[in-house]
Amino acid sequence: MEKEKFYITTPIYYPSDKLHIGHSYCTVATDTMARYKRLRGFDVMFLTGTDEHGQKLERIANSQGMQPKEYIDNIVVGIKELWKTLNISYDKFIRTTDDYHVKAVQKIFKQLYDQGDIYKSSYEGWYCTPCESFFTEHQLVNGKCPDCGRDVELVKEESYFFRLSKYQDRILKYMEENTEFLQPNTRQNEMINNFLRPGLEDLAVSRTSFKWGVPVEFDPGHVVYVWIDALSNYITALGYGSEDDSLYCKYWPADIHVVGKEIVRFHAIIWPAMLMALNLPLPKKIFGHGWLVINGGKMSKSVGNVVDPNVLVEKYGVDSIRYFLLREIAFGQDGNFNNEALIQRINSDLANDLGNLVSRTVGMIEKYFGGQLPDVRSKTNFDAELEGMAVGTAEKVEAAMEKMFFSDALIEIWNLIRRTNKYIDETQPWILCKDEEKKGELANALYHVAESVRIISILIQPFIPNTPEKIWKQYNISNKIIDWEMSKEWGLLPEELKVEKGESLFPRIDMKKELAELEAAIKASQATAVANQGKEEKKEDKKKHDEPEYPAEITIDDFCKVQLKVGEVIASSVVEGSKKLLRNIVKLGEEERVIFSGIKPWYTPEEMVGKKVVVAYNLKPRKMMGELSYGMILCADDGNGNLSLLTTEKEEFPSGSGIS
Ligand code: ME8
Ligand code: MG
Repeated sequence: MEKEKFYITTPIYYPSDKLHIGHSYCTVATDTMARYKRLRGFDVMFLTGTDEHGQKLERIANSQGMQPKEYIDNIVVGIKELWKTLNISYDKFIRTTDDYHVKAVQKIFKQLYDQGDIYKSSYEGWYCTPCESFFTEHQLVNGKCPDCGRDVELVKEESYFFRLSKYQDRILKYMEENTEFLQPNTRQNEMINNFLRPGLEDLAVSRTSFKWGVPVEFDPGHVVYVWIDALSNYITALGYGSEDDSLYCKYWPADIHVVGKEIVRFHAIIWPAMLMALNLPLPKKIFGHGWLVINGGKMSKSVGNVVDPNVLVEKYGVDSIRYFLLREIAFGQDGNFNNEALIQRINSDLANDLGNLVSRTVGMIEKYFGGQLPDVRSKTNFDAELEGMAVGTAEKVEAAMEKMFFSDALIEIWNLIRRTNKYIDETQPWILCKDEEKKGELANALYHVAESVRIISILIQPFIPNTPEKIWKQYNISNKIIDWEMSKEWGLLPEELKVEKGESLFPRIDMKKELAELEAAIKASQATAVANQGKEEKKEDKKKHDEPEYPAEITIDDFCKVQLKVGEVIASSVVEGSKKLLRNIVKLGEEERVIFSGIKPWYTPEEMVGKKVVVAYNLKPRKMMGELSYGMILCADDGNGNLSLLTTEKEEFPSGSGIS
């Protein structure tokens, strides 16, 4: 019988620097799904790769006095090594500088142009280089990139445009009819309300101000916009647009694109529009996962808080890290990366629960039976429950995996692990062993534990793929009894079980001692990263570089030039034609002012009214949406697209108060 196909992808990563544990998170999750599907008998295609074009990479390479390709080649070696270290079982690795990809992108661009979906015009707008995204004036938040909060550049150039607007209704309809298309569901609502309903604008899809991209074949001087180039990878990797498109025919449409939440927009809107224009089927599912955060902020190179996965793997082994990432963070939500939590998980779940279960059982079989269980078994009262739970766990894991709820799947498996440990406590082998007549019961109890361990070893394969092998060796479990389906059957271990003690699976860690060491190791790796970055930046054109700088110091006199006051919002309304702005009337003592604020994505007008806010009072009035705005309402901004109004801690504090 022919296997059913399953095509799953990670984003292709920007090789702008070494990848961090945040990137690893996405790839480990995708790998787990790919492994799971293979175990379930699917013919899996797992694609990952690197997104190698664009202005950002050109600038970084130039700043180091290198050609982009030369610079990137180096980084890609490191990325591939990292995937090897993390046991990433990808089937294909695409680089967007690969020849076949470049040619296919050119072909796609030409086809869209020939059929009128791409046209030439000129573009004036704001460009965020770190995000490789264009924005219109009113999409900016306080003049900064609405996605990452960094400075944007005004660009004006001749450009090709993709008729994104033409596909707006079809995409909207598609999403409304296919409510499972974008997961988790909240992301779908976000797309509909924030982008599709307000209306899509045509998208500039070529650039002329730099060279590092796929050249537009019929108009030299233009390179293809990096996102058009990048998104195409999902089909060009399969040979779409080349002479041999057999893989494309076999695997497309993708079953799941796994992507981080900040790039959902590209995958859920631009990519479907491109596919519609090309008359190709849409991917079946897009899963937008959350971020790994550190102290509430996204882990990222520019913040300088990255954790190098190599450091962690070296210390604790790859399976510990994979387990932590998959177990600790609910896929889809943000999750905090925290050294203490990591060690805690290793100690309690891996060393205590799983490691201990495996070693104490082998230890007891060795101690009481010289390593070989005789077939003298007689039942105990605790058997039925353990058997039932063990053979029923696979189904629960399957249900969780269908939703990509890795954490839930692991919880189910660990329930069985804990139940098996409890079974040992209930049957009390150390007491049974004292009574020669209880030999049968003792052998039975130990067989039960071993058989449960066999089932557990099958179920953990997708998540921590190195560990099962180690278990099988100790329990002499043969290849014949480790198929996924055999986790649903009790009693497949041979009657006369022979075991052999091996190395401890997960050594316990001394939390106190280790925390200090781990912190030092992470700091050391960050220090090298920062030093390298420092070198990069020195050479780089100051005006253009895309990493934040430490601001220059100012004197108290400078600071006092800014007059801040407490205001009370007494009215607030949306602004026609603006996605970000609210028009607020703010009472400052006796005075009332109109102050526009780009906070619509975070606050409704209803929520604004009654709020005590902090206002930059002596700011020169600015014209916004045709009307003057008198001052600015201050917000906290975490740099990840989250805004929070600043307010007075005492609610009843009078408006008009000064701030000192
Ligand atoms: O966006 N936690 O590449 P990229 C979780 N080239 N995930 C994180 C993360 C964190 N702290 N930091 C990054 C690009 N990621 C494009 C993709 S696809 C056609 C083109 C995730 O290297 C991020 O969410 O900036 C994204 O999904 C992936 O790493 C690649 O990010
Ligand atoms: Mg990114």
